[in-house]
Amino acid sequence: MAKLSQPLQHFTKFESFDLGNELIELALLYKANPALDKAKGEGKRIGCIFLNPSLRTRVSTQLAALNLGLEPIVLNMDKEGWALEMQEGAIMNKGTVEHIKDAAAVLGSYFDMLAIRAFPSLTNKEEDVSDFVFSQFVKYSGIQVISLESATRHPLQSLADQITIRENWSGKKKPKIVLTWGPHIKAIPHAVANSFAEWTLGMDHDLTITHPSGYELDEEFTKGAKIEYNQSKALEDADFVYVKNWSAFNDYGKIISTDASWMLTEDHFKKAPSAKVMHCLPVRRNLELSDEILDGKRSLVQEQAKNRVYAAQAVISHLLGTI
Ligand code: CP
Repeated sequence: MAKLSQPLQHFTKFESFDLGNELIELALLYKANPALDKAKGEGKRIGCIFLNPSLRTRVSTQLAALNLGLEPIVLNMDKEGWALEMQEGAIMNKGTVEHIKDAAAVLGSYFDMLAIRAFPSLTNKEEDVSDFVFSQFVKYSGIQVISLESATRHPLQSLADQITIRENWSGKKKPKIVLTWGPHIKAIPHAVANSFAEWTLGMDHDLTITHPSGYELDEEFTKGAKIEYNQSKALEDADFVYVKNWSAFNDYGKIISTDASWMLTEDHFKKAPSAKVMHCLPVRRNLELSDEILDGKRSLVQEQAKNRVYAAQAVISHLLGTI
C-alpha cells in the first residue's frame, strides 16, 4: 500500500512543494498501476456533491474512488437537492428550502469523506473571495472535504496539470511556462487560472502570465509570476502554454475584452516552436482556442483530462491515510 507523509485534513489548495511532489509521484504510481491500493478505501463512501455542471471532475473522481475501493455517490445538488439557504439567522420565507447547516451535517453523517463543487457567483466579490459556500460545507459537514472547484481554486485540476508537465518535461533547465488569457463570450470564474498559478509557482517553476489590460488576477495567486501584457513577447521560447479565459477580477466578473487576436493558432508559435499547449477543458473551439492547436501535436489536453483520475486517486488515498 502506498503511504504519504504530512496527512491533510482537507484538500482545498496548494500546501507545499514537498506535498505537491509526493502527490505527483503517487499519482504516477497509480497511473502505472491503478489497482495498487484497491482495498485501501473498502467499506467507506465518498459523497460527490455538485452545485454546478461537470464532466471530467464528476467522472474522474468516481473512477479514482473506485480504484481505491471506496463507493462514490453523486448528488447533483443544483438539480436534485433542495434550494439551499446560506445566511446565518435567515428567516426562510422566500425561495430557499433547506439551510446549509442542516444539509451539510446530514451529508457528513452519511459519508466518510465529501467532495464539493461550488462555483462563484461572480457578482458578490467578498463572498466569492472568502469561498463562502464551499467553506459552509467544510464547517458544517464535520468530515474531510475535497475541493472539486471552489470560487477561488481548482486544486485537482492543477495537480493533474503539474503531473502532465512532469511527464512532458525532460529538459535540464526549468521549463518556461506561460499562462495566457483566451477570449470567451461568457463571464468565466478565476479558479483554474488562480490555481494553475498557485501550483506552478509553488512547484518552483518560472511562470509568465499574459492577458489584456484589466484582466489582472488576484495577487494572492500571482505573486512571483512575471506579468507581460504583450502576448507574442510572453510566448517567446515558451515550453508550456496554458490557455484559459477568466473574467476581470478588479472590475469583478466583467467581460472587458473579446479580442480574437488572443486566440492561439500555429502563427502564434513562430518563436516557441516546441511549445506544448494545455487547457483544462471544456473549451469553446475556435473562440478560446483554435482547432489546429487542439487537434495538433502540441496539444496536451487529453493527457491532462486522463491525469484527473490519478490526481484524484492520489488525493483520496492521502486523505484516507488520516481517517
Ligand atoms: N476541467 C474540469 O474541471 O472539467 P469539468 O468542469 O467538466 O469537470
